[in-house]
Amino acid sequence: MGVAPEDTIARPSGYQAGFVDLHVHLLPGVDDGPGNLDATLALARLAAADGIVCATATPHVASVVVEEIPERVGEVRAALAEAAIPIEVHAGGELGARGVGRLSADELRTIAHGPPGARWILLEAPLDGAVGRLHRAADELRCCGYGVVLAHPERCGPLFEDDMRELRKELERGAVTQVSSSSLVGMHGTRARRNAARLVAERHAGLIATDAHGPRRPPSLTAAVAAAFRLGLTVAEARSLVAERPRALLERGLGPQPLPADAIPQTPTEPPAPSSGPEAPPSYAAGSPDVSRAARRARARSAAGG
Ligand SMILES: [Fe+2]
Repeated sequence: MGVAPEDTIARPSGYQAGFVDLHVHLLPGVDDGPGNLDATLALARLAAADGIVCATATPHVASVVVEEIPERVGEVRAALAEAAIPIEVHAGGELGARGVGRLSADELRTIAHGPPGARWILLEAPLDGAVGRLHRAADELRCCGYGVVLAHPERCGPLFEDDMRELRKELERGAVTQVSSSSLVGMHGTRARRNAARLVAERHAGLIATDAHGPRRPPSLTAAVAAAFRLGLTVAEARSLVAERPRALLERGLGPQPLPADAIPQTPTEPPAPSSGPEAPPSYAAGSPDVSRAARRARARSAAGG
């Protein structure tokens, strides 16, 4: 008979669960997360109460000047220290599929994590269901030498059609899935909750993160551990999804991922993009006009290794 995780993780005041949250909108005034520093501190207090001791601040990359992220994270760190909120914060970013080719090598490096040779980037599973664009963006990152951690795939319905055919393509290419605790506890509806539960129960979830934005979408890793236990994971397995695995990704990174030969189309002959539709070719084809994608890939690959 298993030990109820609620009993196991019930924490007296001051107890640190040691959770690591690799997806949280913690920076003030940049996206749909906290509007100001006070709101950031309020969110951080909720995170600390949830047992989180380490977090990567992951603003929507399209909403922030990437080169400013480290400085903004520094300001948050200072504010947390002054407020005696014991959370270690790292710089990161949640990259949309449309945004991959718009970033320079330096910008990719700014939002990446892990040691040289094992660096990875948090890539958002598109809420509009454009899985073709997602695959191309993920392959582009792999071409640049980055591993892919796929944010909240459970919220992208087409990834789950035909027994998760499209999601399995990413898994086979080495992507790690980041299930959101907010999905697992039902904040994004029945379908996302069901998909998240399936990923966890079938051991396809690489880690669980909060994707917290504030009090209306608060951190919920403690609840996620309990949910994972109810889905059949052991307490150790459930805890690993919110502690050991994300910690290992930060410290040891994500190894090189296989890249299929047909991963990236030949850019110079790529047909023009349709003007609309969810399966439109990725916007990353429209990068800096004076820098070819091949050159950018080479520069980024160099950056990823350094
Ligand atoms: Fe997010």
